[in-house]
Amino acid sequence: MTKITWVLKDGSRISADVADGTNLMAAAASANVPGIIGECGGCLSCATCHVYVDEGSLAMTGTADGTEDAMLDATDAPRQDNSRLSCQLIAGPALEGLVLHVPA
Ligand code: FES
Repeated sequence: MTKITWVLKDGSRISADVADGTNLMAAAASANVPGIIGECGGCLSCATCHVYVDEGSLAMTGTADGTEDAMLDATDAPRQDNSRLSCQLIAGPALEGLVLHVPA
């Protein structure tokens, strides 16, 4: 299990222990995190699972590349250096304690 925390627009937090191997879009849906839609079901074609990685967690996730990098140009909220598509982040020991911010 991997502890993940989502910070909502109003500053409140939702945390969940996520089964390793689960993508963090699906995990957000299971944890009832508002604002992460996941319209394409995680097949990297909608960009509605956009999140901002907390500055303190950036070393855990690295940066987007390939198709994810291209899809980040299609997000509703402005793309930032710490933008990721959460369906491409997979729970596991490397992401223990990860903090994600939900875009406005
Ligand atoms: Fe569609 Fe992530 S859920 S790109």
